[in-house]
Amino acid sequence: MTSHAPLIIRRAQILLPSGEFMLGDVQIQDGVIVQVNSEISPVTESPVTEIDANGLTLLPGVIDPQVHFREPGLEHKEDLFTASCACARGGVTSFLEMPNTRPLTTTQAALDDKLQRAAQKCLVNYGFFIGATAELLPDLLQATPVAGIKIFMGSMHGPLLVDQDEVLEKIFAQGTRLIAVHAEDQARIAQRRQQFAGITDPAIHSTIQDNQAALNATRLALQLAQKYRRRLHILHMSTAEEAELLRQHKPAWVTAEVTPQHLLLNTNAYETIGTLAQMNPPLRSPHDNEVLWQALLDGVIDFIATDHAPHTLEEKAQTYPNTPSGMPGVETSLALMLTQAKAGRCTVAQVAHWMSTAVAQAYRIPNKGVIAPGYDADLVLVDLNTYHPVRREDLVTKCKWSPFEGWNLTGWAVYTLVGGKVAYDRGTLHTDVRGQALRFESD
Ligand code: DOR
Repeated sequence: MTSHAPLIIRRAQILLPSGEFMLGDVQIQDGVIVQVNSEISPVTESPVTEIDANGLTLLPGVIDPQVHFREPGLEHKEDLFTASCACARGGVTSFLEMPNTRPLTTTQAALDDKLQRAAQKCLVNYGFFIGATAELLPDLLQATPVAGIKIFMGSMHGPLLVDQDEVLEKIFAQGTRLIAVHAEDQARIAQRRQQFAGITDPAIHSTIQDNQAALNATRLALQLAQKYRRRLHILHMSTAEEAELLRQHKPAWVTAEVTPQHLLLNTNAYETIGTLAQMNPPLRSPHDNEVLWQALLDGVIDFIATDHAPHTLEEKAQTYPNTPSGMPGVETSLALMLTQAKAGRCTVAQVAHWMSTAVAQAYRIPNKGVIAPGYDADLVLVDLNTYHPVRREDLVTKCKWSPFEGWNLTGWAVYTLVGGKVAYDRGTLHTDVRGQALRFESD
């Protein structure tokens, strides 16, 4: 690797691995943190780049473990370049992307194509899931590098839907790599879709794909994970019932995540933002919000993902049920959660744990998620002193909308560093910066 000039971040409130903060400096060399100290003496080497972080807080860059970036095949909604720009603006330095692109990411060839595109276009680091199908393609176990196997147990049409028990059983029985499930009971959803056919109020979405549908699938996935002692991750957990199930018994090899939407929005959002509030699994009740928060605080839920799933405003302007499900999220997730921390709901250190450290641990991504010598310099400097609203005109996601428009947030990224390079700085994207493919230990 060629040697680059050192970079020193000075006078930041640095989040230490202990969860405490220290006012000090961080020195970066060749993309890696080499020193964290209360004061680093001036480096004699020249040139040296310095960032004055006075008044800013330094956190490990966000690792968003569930996004849908639409490339290849659905680039009218988003592409890897625009999505990674949105990541950089949001303080997200790595992402794990889902296989429901076109073609579906179910083979090594499709995975290689995504990796190649990402290497050319992404400002931040990238990793991909391989999608399970009923065909049980050999690449499901062999393709590499992958974050894990994604199973859509429900809410999906086409070959990525895996809703037959015997196929699920086979997938859990084969191999050892992590299985991440979108847990909704497709048979129940199909039956309820018929029952409520003809209703065009998008609020019916949460009734059709109800709490029971989520609970049924999560229970089944947990049973299979128990039976085969298989690493299981429950994606975007949305209901009080699932949280209580996990609270009663959660094997050490099972993890779960929640989205900011399921913590902060509920079915009241249909009244204000209509179909923009439509996602899968759907928004739930204020009671579900509360139980999910408590489960997160208690460690029953391990970390946070956005499920960034952009659709165009034109697509969202159709009439339910013709509207697609999904909301963008990478640009607002960190500020949303830090605003909650500032309001006393949790601590800043917990937010960094849920949005970076715990994700790196669960997916076995080496050298990320911690600010300490030897770790990659994927970092975000945030401003916890000022508030700015989410405004459509500021968004860089291609879809150009957010369910949180108008929310006044603090903790916005001021600088985002990817591998020691500044990818975003005070409103400017450095579009020449490129991330790297993530590695997964023992994938
Ligand atoms: O609402 C959603 N939209 N949930 C998903 O799991 C998929 C996503 C999409 O790709 O649009």
